[in-house]
Amino acid sequence: MPLENRPHPKTVLVTGAAGFIGFHVSKALLEAGHRVVGLDNLNDYYDVNLKLARLAQLGIDKKDALQELNYISSATFGNRMIFVKMNLEDRNALPELFEKHSIDSVCNLAAQAGVRYSLENPEAYADSNLTGFLNVLECCRNYKVPKLVYASSSSIYGNSDAVPFEETANVDHPVSLYAATKKANELMAHAYTHLYGFESIGLRFFTVYGPWGRPDMAMFLFTDAIINNKPLKVFNNGDLSRDFTYIDDIVAGIMATLLESSNNKSSYKLYNIGNSQPVQLLEYIEAIEKALGKTALKEMMPMQPGDVKQTFANVSRLKTDFNYQPTTEVKQGIATFVEWYREFYGA
Ligand SMILES: NC(=O)c1ccc[n+]([C@@H]2O[C@H](COP(=O)([O-])OP(=O)(O)OC[C@H]3O[C@@H](n4cnc5c(N)ncnc54)[C@H](O)[C@@H]3O)[C@@H](O)[C@H]2O)c1
Repeated sequence: MPLENRPHPKTVLVTGAAGFIGFHVSKALLEAGHRVVGLDNLNDYYDVNLKLARLAQLGIDKKDALQELNYISSATFGNRMIFVKMNLEDRNALPELFEKHSIDSVCNLAAQAGVRYSLENPEAYADSNLTGFLNVLECCRNYKVPKLVYASSSSIYGNSDAVPFEETANVDHPVSLYAATKKANELMAHAYTHLYGFESIGLRFFTVYGPWGRPDMAMFLFTDAIINNKPLKVFNNGDLSRDFTYIDDIVAGIMATLLESSNNKSSYKLYNIGNSQPVQLLEYIEAIEKALGKTALKEMMPMQPGDVKQTFANVSRLKTDFNYQPTTEVKQGIATFVEWYREFYGA
């Protein structure tokens, strides 16, 4: 049955539910009255306590969350939140999850993220992003899930200087294995939607930031360095720009693609999801300094292997099809992040 004909509330499988974006999407879905089946392997790529603290916000108890393949529900949202610690690439456990729960749509956010780490531990990217994603596609196929929304990335544009980046651009030249796996996801989704008819929507996220953010990303690293009087590494001597996108704008875009139907009836869709207002790295640091009332100790560094010089999203396709309209100014977003950081870390 097509998604729009399925009754409200919907049951959405959110993979990577303890991750930065997955946590926010799960919360928004629950607040809108839907049911969430959240999956995450709680790996230690970064502080597991932060992942557990996010789950605690959804009413999931730490100790229970750490038990492998243990389905737990949270009373906080009227038992509409279920969490299970599971590896996406577990070929027996994932189909069992689909067997147990009738899933209306899948939001696949679990992945090995991070450009730089893909030079150190390429295997993690093959396991989570390729094998894990194939497993998700197979379950969508076998359990007749009408819609799959999955995370791609702005990094697939590589070192293109044709800005703003458009979905029609050739993206056959990734400059990191991370980006290559995201491009591979788009190709795999194309093959599966062509063969099996379900709808897939790939979202190319542009540098997402905000409260409960990832400790390996600029916003977090910079804030942490400034507060703790540590030198802050400024790559490519600051000559980088990023289309920083606030988490609430990202969540609004994901919610629309997950739950709404669009006039675009093709079963395979790809969208940029960014802010469309790139900011120079040094300006970004200045805004964090202002929010903290403290000056950064900057350590100028060369360009990092695998990194790209600029990102800048053209979001008109997502605007046309799903009314996407980012509204958060970077200054405002930084202030909200800093406030969260201070409270969470007691800094
Ligand atoms: N945050 C950004 O700026 C950004 C930009 C572009 C793309 N993305 C993509 O968006 C998605 C979410 O990113 P995020 O920032 O929330 O990252 P995150 O690392 O905070 O969240 C990912 C979650 O997935 C889990 N996970 C990883 N591999 C898994 C596996 N094999 N099985 C089960 N769980 C697994 C991790 O434990 C983590 O909690 C990722 O696919 C990422 O590549 C993010």
